[in-house]
Amino acid sequence: MRYSLKEEFMGCYESIWLRDNSPEKNMRTPISSNISPNVTKRDIQFVLSRIFYPWHWLRWMRGTAVFALEKRFKEDYGMPHAIAFDAGRTALYALMDALKLRPDDKVILQSFTCISVPNTIIAAGGKPRYVDIDDSYNIDVDSLETILRHEQHIRAVIVQHTFGIPADIERIQALCRLHGVLLIEDCAHALGAAVNGKLVGTFGDAAMFSFGRDKVISSVSGGLAITHNTDIAQGVRAYVDGLSLPSRLWVKKRLLHPLIFAVAKQFYYFFSLGKLLIEGTRSLHLWPLVLETEEKQGQQLHGFRLPNVIAEWALQQYSDLEIKNTHRKKLADMYQAAFAKQKEIQLPTIRESDEPIFLRFPIQVSPAQAEILLKKMRKEGILLGDWYRHVIDPKDASLTAAQYTNGSCPNAEETARRVVNLPTSIQTSKQQAENISQHIIQILHER
Ligand SMILES: Cc1ncc(COP(=O)(O)O)c(C=O)c1O
Repeated sequence: MRYSLKEEFMGCYESIWLRDNSPEKNMRTPISSNISPNVTKRDIQFVLSRIFYPWHWLRWMRGTAVFALEKRFKEDYGMPHAIAFDAGRTALYALMDALKLRPDDKVILQSFTCISVPNTIIAAGGKPRYVDIDDSYNIDVDSLETILRHEQHIRAVIVQHTFGIPADIERIQALCRLHGVLLIEDCAHALGAAVNGKLVGTFGDAAMFSFGRDKVISSVSGGLAITHNTDIAQGVRAYVDGLSLPSRLWVKKRLLHPLIFAVAKQFYYFFSLGKLLIEGTRSLHLWPLVLETEEKQGQQLHGFRLPNVIAEWALQQYSDLEIKNTHRKKLADMYQAAFAKQKEIQLPTIRESDEPIFLRFPIQVSPAQAEILLKKMRKEGILLGDWYRHVIDPKDASLTAAQYTNGSCPNAEETARRVVNLPTSIQTSKQQAENISQHIIQILHER
């Protein structure tokens, strides 16, 4: 039996590879949050046309799409300034650079984050000041308040809305105003999430978004900064004006990515051909890594301006945002309902005022059970998400380079040991979400 998202999404979102993954049947494709989770037939058509129709080649680098993308964000977020980049981390670095940090200046951020975030602070000349997290996977506001009250040289707070769950942003905004500290929202996971009907990204002095391969929308790479602060905007503009466009090879690798992964996913278990294709193309550098080795060692790599064709793709993905996020919320509701009575599973804490979009649906179990779940679900063809299984992700990120002191954020460290995250993307059908929940409950009850 083949499950299609076609009926549900008016005929244009049929998944290119969704298959029945019921436990009784041999699975032909893996369920995964990591393998091109946002790709639909429309994306495949888009990249094929941009690669194979020569008249599109002329507009790979320059055109009107970057301007159009920036305009959409300005309108939707009611911000006077929006500036696109090749990646979210470049957008965040541009914001940090615009703050003109002095060597003593500290920028607060939560632990339980990606190393690309502290890298931007360090590269801009500041010191990362880590704060522990609460049960919503976001910065613990009581600890933040204590630091703001007692510590000197705090220039800014970066607030990350982890997994698309909003942080307690209204309280944080009030605290930042009280202490005269800039508030930067990291919305890499949270495009479309809101608090009391107001979009996250509109609470701070500035915000950044990511269009990376497994983010809310995806053009494989891409990012954007928005701000209503004129000084920050000037700094970010000056930075982007000094950047060049990447090479045509850089663009080609992004356009090839969904094609390679579409084929690999189809043949993932067929004599492991899919896995071999991913490995082979990776060693040939045919697609970009999420993080380069140097970045895991604390370096901020050189950024670029966003090429036209990637902006065009991001705009196409953005036009489906509501459909993608509605699907995510539906699956999150299913997981919530399925696990409501499972005592060994800790569900995320969501405030009444929050409108999360659940880029991933995180659950916590004991550290031993988390390991078992990841291993046993993999055997079932379900590759559970392992984002933030380390206090500064990924596993081989240098804590020393990130200037994180082991033991300084115990809740974040414990959470990293206990968390696994479940897929919510358009690539995951309701039936698959049901199977995932059943498998998890079954595995947790095995003796
Ligand atoms: C919380 C967070 N912020 C920023 C980034 C950087 O975004 P990008 O991958 O587009 O550079 C990431 C990347 O994974 C992230 O998880």
